[in-house]
Amino acid sequence: MKLRVLAGLLAAAGMSSAALAQEDGQISYNSHVGRIINENCVVCHREGGIGPMRFETYDQIRPWAPLISVRVANREMPPYAYDHGIGIQDLQGDWRLSQEDIDTIVAWVDQGAPLGDPDLVVPPPDLNDPSEWNFVDAFGEPTMVIPSIPIDIPATGNDMWSNHYVPSGITSDRCIKAIQVKPRGDAKAVVHHANSSVELMREDGTMERYGQLTEYAMGKWGEIVPEGVCRTIPAGSMVRWSIHMYPGGVGPTAQGRMIRDNVVEIGLWLHDEDYVEQARYKQDLKLYRISEQDDLVIPPNGYHMTQGFQSFDHPVRVDSFQPHGHLRMNAASLEIFYPETGRTEQISQISNWSATWHHSHIYEPEVAPLVPAGAVLVLKQWYDNTAANPNNPDPDQWVYGGSRTGDEMTHAWIAITHLDEEGYQQLLAERRAAEQRSLAASD
Ligand code: HEC
Repeated sequence: MKLRVLAGLLAAAGMSSAALAQEDGQISYNSHVGRIINENCVVCHREGGIGPMRFETYDQIRPWAPLISVRVANREMPPYAYDHGIGIQDLQGDWRLSQEDIDTIVAWVDQGAPLGDPDLVVPPPDLNDPSEWNFVDAFGEPTMVIPSIPIDIPATGNDMWSNHYVPSGITSDRCIKAIQVKPRGDAKAVVHHANSSVELMREDGTMERYGQLTEYAMGKWGEIVPEGVCRTIPAGSMVRWSIHMYPGGVGPTAQGRMIRDNVVEIGLWLHDEDYVEQARYKQDLKLYRISEQDDLVIPPNGYHMTQGFQSFDHPVRVDSFQPHGHLRMNAASLEIFYPETGRTEQISQISNWSATWHHSHIYEPEVAPLVPAGAVLVLKQWYDNTAANPNNPDPDQWVYGGSRTGDEMTHAWIAITHLDEEGYQQLLAERRAAEQRSLAASD
């Protein structure tokens, strides 16, 4: 609320840059706000989208204007919690609005949310079908889609899990370019998360784990593997699904209904076959535990913090970071500690974390942290079991480590490219050269 009042005051005093840009001081839907909404909100707030209301026209938006102002000023919408001004800011698939767009929306609402000049036409949003894959524009349709086995979810009851195998359909070792996991249709309301790993069958018919494929949790966008590295999916592999669902679901579709034939799908975009030979380094996505599940105990009306460490005996690049917790977790961070200098570097901070939205924060390859051998990734997560936490269903409960939605978890998913000393030095040199170039260009 504070932000809103401040921005409102600035706008009223004619001080916000957005307000200054307007000659007559009026910010209207047609002149400014329609574009911002179309580019940032309509993807979810439309017919068939996951948002509870539609923002496709001025008439649909107008009644929601005051609430829009609050949600936008508090950075709750678009739903992408990641702190500004701390650590790496260049992320792929970053939904955050610029401060200027936020100020514009707030100033517009403070001025009565006018439509503006009817002759100005707001360009329509350029959007895929809501059931489409997220990377269609970048990479076309997935090379293959791997569905889970359908399962019915009743209207009421306890959390449910479905663990089963399906063939991956991969016939020669391949490198993954991008991957997205998507519940099909109404399944999005009951699927809490879905892990998928790749396993290979031993000669005696038992299964051996090869590695993690990807992890889906509500609201997740997908993952892109950086150029030049291979996240392998091997020939003849099986995909092991582990899907966590809860009856009754969330959102407008599932409340009080049985949902039949829930299917989760993996969309896989693969590199050509010969990429396996070309890619110099391997990348993997793994779960890094922050503390033991048994040590996670949060008192009623209390707080908790966990901290974990991870280092490697070879240099690495951190490609993405996704903290994981449930309803009491409200913040997470990633830092790197350099034992040689004693310095700690802040990489990512997510205050205002919410279990409704799980994002894999994908660092732009030019800024993804390059970590020398022996440096330490420091992972921290915070938990708020008081009534002040809006996601908390019951502050009077003891909360323990466990996998039900009402339990807590403390780990992070991190994609790591495993480098060698030569590759590490080369990447460092490339960054220095790029810095020099940009300094020279700004002279
Ligand atoms: C990725 C999908 C997505 C995007 C993008 C998105 N929303 Fe939402 N929005 C939702 C969902 C889902 C809800 C309901 C659940 C919730 O409140 O988190 C919601 C709820 C809301 C609410 C109602 C909150 C309440 O308290 O009832 C407002 C207002 C809102 N969004 C505004 C916006 C605006 C404005 C934008 C763009 C600047 C935007 N949203 C972008 C998915 C989205």
